[in-house]
Amino acid sequence: MAFKLFWFLIVFVSSQGNCEKIIQDLTWSFGNDTIYWPGQRPFNFTKQQTVAESKYMYSVNEFCAAEHGGTHFDAPYHFYQNGLKVSEIDGFRLFGKGALVNLTDESEKLGRNVRLTVAHLQDWESKNGPFENGTILLVAFGRSKLWTNRSQYLDLEGESLNFPGISNEAAQWIVDKGTFYGVGLDTPSIDPGNTTDYFVHTLFAKNSLYNLENVKLLDYLPDKGFEIIAAPMKIEDGTGAPTRIFAILNN
Ligand SMILES: *[C@@H]1O[C@H](CO)[C@@H](O)[C@H](O)[C@H]1NC(C)=O
Ligand SMILES: *[C@@H]1O[C@H](CO)[C@@H](O)[C@H](O)[C@H]1NC(C)=O
Ligand SMILES: *[C@@H]1O[C@H](CO)[C@@H](O)[C@H](O)[C@H]1NC(C)=O
Ligand SMILES: *[C@@H]1O[C@H](CO)[C@@H](O)[C@H](O)[C@H]1NC(C)=O
Ligand SMILES: *[C@@H]1O[C@H](CO)[C@@H](O)[C@H](O)[C@H]1NC(C)=O
Ligand SMILES: *[C@@H]1O[C@H](CO)[C@@H](O)[C@H](O)[C@H]1NC(C)=O
Ligand SMILES: [Zn+2]
Repeated sequence: MAFKLFWFLIVFVSSQGNCEKIIQDLTWSFGNDTIYWPGQRPFNFTKQQTVAESKYMYSVNEFCAAEHGGTHFDAPYHFYQNGLKVSEIDGFRLFGKGALVNLTDESEKLGRNVRLTVAHLQDWESKNGPFENGTILLVAFGRSKLWTNRSQYLDLEGESLNFPGISNEAAQWIVDKGTFYGVGLDTPSIDPGNTTDYFVHTLFAKNSLYNLENVKLLDYLPDKGFEIIAAPMKIEDGTGAPTRIFAILNN
């Protein structure tokens, strides 16, 4: 009996060690409908013909696109000439502890006018404890469900864009905290759409934080207790790049 219990414990412990992970893909696929900033070259996917030889076949395509469109990464160099370029970011900063501030309900009331404030960040901490060192912060404004309609997602008004973003005060709080690798949003830009000075981009860039923009936040994520991998294409001299982003949750 004792022998059987021993084996039971071994199996139990090892299955715990192997516990299954759930991978959530936070990336929009790139294609003809991918949203790019007005005036930037969109994703241009060219189908090449498929070649069929007697012993094999192959297909190849080509694409061409601006750095900053779809789900993508902003390197500090995008807004600060001494900042790191996308290929220079240390790998360890691309793998972090996930934290989500979910402003979807407020966004339903305030729409394009909602801003992440210091109070939102403090509320998060009073519920979840302090943000841990090495956090990649996600902010959900409930905008991912507009992705399939470019004019709604950008909320275009003539030439001007209107969508939620991070307030200047919250950006300063995030920098002062010193525990964040980067910040990701379900909008085209970390600054609110109607910014005139790109305060948040500039502040983050000067403090070595990167941005993740157009993150696909369609499915539920907890406030914390998950990990994030954000892997931008390693473009030499890149100011940014298309990025594959995963949230990794324990089952
Ligand atoms: C994307 O656009 C190109 C050029 O207009 C076209 O050839 C291609 O079929 C389109 N791809 C899809 C998946 O619609
Ligand atoms: C897309 O690329 C193809 C091949 O280089 C080019 O002929 C076409 O004009 C491009 N389309 C756009 C919209 O840039
Ligand atoms: C941008 O929109 C917000 C919210 O509507 C408003 O408070 C702010 O004054 C606007 N900023 C600019 C520069 O127009
Ligand atoms: C996108 O949204 C706009 C504004 O709400 C609307 O006029 C348009 O019909 C929508 N387009 C599609 C393809 O649903
Ligand atoms: C976070 O960790 C880094 C690397 O270990 C360290 O340099 C930094 O001082 C830490 N920051 C805080 C706020 O603990
Ligand atoms: C944010 O909260 C809303 C409900 O308030 C929920 O439906 C949605 O899934 C949440 N978003 C994420 C990314 O967890
Ligand atoms: Zn960008």
